[in-house]
Amino acid sequence: MKALPTYQQEDQTITFHYPAGELQLTVLTPEIVRVYQYRGNDGASYAIEGAKQTPTPFTLTTDADHYTLTTSALTLNLDADRHLDVYDAQGNALVTDYRGERTLLDKGVDKVHERLVEAEGHSVTKATTKANTSYYEVTKNLAPDEQLYGLGDKTGYLDKRGFEYDNWNVDYPDPQLEILPNIYKSIPIMLGLKNGHPYGLFFDNTYKSHFDMGKESDDYYFYSAVDGNLDYYIIGGSTLKAVVTNYTYLTGRTPLPQKWTLGYQQSRWGYSASEAEVQAIADGLKQHDLPCDAIHFDVDYMRGYRVFTWDHAKYADPKQFVASLRDQGIKVIPIIDPGVKQDPDYDVYAAGVKNNYFVKTPAGKVYINKVWPGDSAFPDFGRPDVRQWWANNNQFLTDMGVGGVWIDMNEPATFEGEIPDDVVFHDQNTPATHKKMHNVYGHNMAKATYAGLKAQQGKRPYVITRAAYAGTQKYSTVWTGDNRSMWPHLQMMIPQLCNLGLSGFSFVGTDIGGFASDSSAELLTRWIEAAIFSPLLRNHAAMGTRHQEPWSFGEPTLTIYRKYLKLRYRFIPYLYDLFAQESANGLPIMRPLVLNYPADSRVRDLDDEFMVGDTVLVAPIVQKSKINRTVYLPAGDWIDFWNNREYPGNQDILVDAPLDKLPLFIKKDTLLPWGQEVSHVAATPDTTMTFKAFGQNARYDHYQDNGQDFAYENGEFNRYTITVANGEASVQITHQGFAPIYQTITIDLPADAVTLTYDPASHTYRA
Ligand code: GLC
Repeated sequence: MKALPTYQQEDQTITFHYPAGELQLTVLTPEIVRVYQYRGNDGASYAIEGAKQTPTPFTLTTDADHYTLTTSALTLNLDADRHLDVYDAQGNALVTDYRGERTLLDKGVDKVHERLVEAEGHSVTKATTKANTSYYEVTKNLAPDEQLYGLGDKTGYLDKRGFEYDNWNVDYPDPQLEILPNIYKSIPIMLGLKNGHPYGLFFDNTYKSHFDMGKESDDYYFYSAVDGNLDYYIIGGSTLKAVVTNYTYLTGRTPLPQKWTLGYQQSRWGYSASEAEVQAIADGLKQHDLPCDAIHFDVDYMRGYRVFTWDHAKYADPKQFVASLRDQGIKVIPIIDPGVKQDPDYDVYAAGVKNNYFVKTPAGKVYINKVWPGDSAFPDFGRPDVRQWWANNNQFLTDMGVGGVWIDMNEPATFEGEIPDDVVFHDQNTPATHKKMHNVYGHNMAKATYAGLKAQQGKRPYVITRAAYAGTQKYSTVWTGDNRSMWPHLQMMIPQLCNLGLSGFSFVGTDIGGFASDSSAELLTRWIEAAIFSPLLRNHAAMGTRHQEPWSFGEPTLTIYRKYLKLRYRFIPYLYDLFAQESANGLPIMRPLVLNYPADSRVRDLDDEFMVGDTVLVAPIVQKSKINRTVYLPAGDWIDFWNNREYPGNQDILVDAPLDKLPLFIKKDTLLPWGQEVSHVAATPDTTMTFKAFGQNARYDHYQDNGQDFAYENGEFNRYTITVANGEASVQITHQGFAPIYQTITIDLPADAVTLTYDPASHTYRA
């Protein structure tokens, strides 16, 4: 028997001295243990900020052939061969090291034929093999009954088992389908249900990495990275929800957004080419009675695509125009790209050169590649001073009165080939390489933008980014980039947004109607129905595609689109409540059924239904020409939102869904806040609120604040508990800190409605 390594314990970290190198286990909390091996890479995590270790009792015992580290929730066995096996408190295996060698997939092709196949333009997937000494792999056992989730925005299905993915942020313009290895974001958190037992594994390494989720073998899954330290977190939790809560404890949570950001947003690349075009869109929205809170300004508003400029030839007085739109209830969200046009007469470029803010070639020259403005330089966002400079640059936009900033092309994307690996970027203040900093480029740009907006606006920053890393959810909303107007992309919206949610990203959305290619009346209609609960609700299209504004296809598209936008605004207080909860527990707004019903094997790979919180179940039509579908209802009783018909759960039902119908079910004995019918989210506080009861017994906790700034952090919010018991309604104020308390609260019961009035003397609501 091999001898166990010696070890040394310091606080909650144990260092095991293996002949091949040290391995550390750090107990952060009873449910989070870090596994770490230094492999020559210095620098702190970008995903995890602040100290996450809490005083946690644990024991370390020595058995004949392994050490056992035990917390109240996890047991870790580590043997003389560095094999690590992790169990939950009941002894169920969660994450265990695979003992064998990998068996490479037999592609049935030799080198010569591989080239032949490639000559016709097909790619032959090459199995990942050990390329150099900095490369490493982590291989874990896969059980026959094991599902794998997470990985951020990766394409394909909810259950990632059987696929492989790369973490290397790319702008991929072709149709993004399930075979695509990598896309805009790198969020290396995977969640698993092994024989029904939940766990998470977070690999905190910014270098290019790879997940084989049991494609190569049914016996194991593996993670590999081309470089970087071995640095991963084993995350336990009694439920899948607890695992997500633990992961977002580690990497942070989406902060409470401004309330209006939950409103509808209209966009198209090309609108902002003139004031008149933008005004025509605002007029169209108003004329067609379509609620809306923002219009996005794509690259056209700038002077020659120079970031932090506004073209005065197109806009006589941009500030005045932005203000006039704001008076019409519409916020402006301009786009900003990282590429700074190479032009010595342009102040942003000149300042960047003068202060050495741009990334450089190994020879020390400013590195140039092409993006929209032509030759451009790239800010070195890993550096704190560059982030501060970029934050300050946003003053130009916040002075204009913009509502938020949309940041794009920050993978970073370039038109003349990828940036070479050895271009000099910084990891904070230490020189590093593109190879190391690529995957956190968008993250650091988002962080800088967030800091700028927070300081300049004093409001909760609204930043929307395309590229991201784990932890970016603290700074930015995300959209899924350049999808296409095609049914498979509407279908993919559900698993893609659900996996983003499981990966800590709660404020997410897709380009409604599809970005590239031409939309159609039916596709746009089904897309707005399916997306109506997606936290980010934006219709966006590429220049040169068929128009897809809600009125572009005439009737019945316009009427149906309006019906769903109005429904969305009714649900905004519910979505806002979910965000208030999310900022405390990290649970996504839009979520797969498996998060709420992990014990139900029927929902473990369900790609065409989702839930909003715990009580709203959405089963959209995402296939062309379909007018009905089966809907799986999990345990409990369910009420059809449209006709109040009740169904017991644990069954499939067939639901009619003509073009204007989104199948929607509410869990029986639920209360939901029901917002007013408005054209824009009001800046003034609501004086009254309505709750709709589905069933005779329900309880609901509701949150209210000014919806804009950080005053809530100082207690300026109200919390209410609404109760319906045997058809009797009552309201308790559980926290009172926001002066404009509701004067009346109406509860819509199945049979009648009750209105309660606030009595300031007793701080209670009375009939
Ligand atoms: C990128 C973005 C897209 C934007 C376009 C022009 O393709 O993903 O949303 O419209 O650039 O800026």
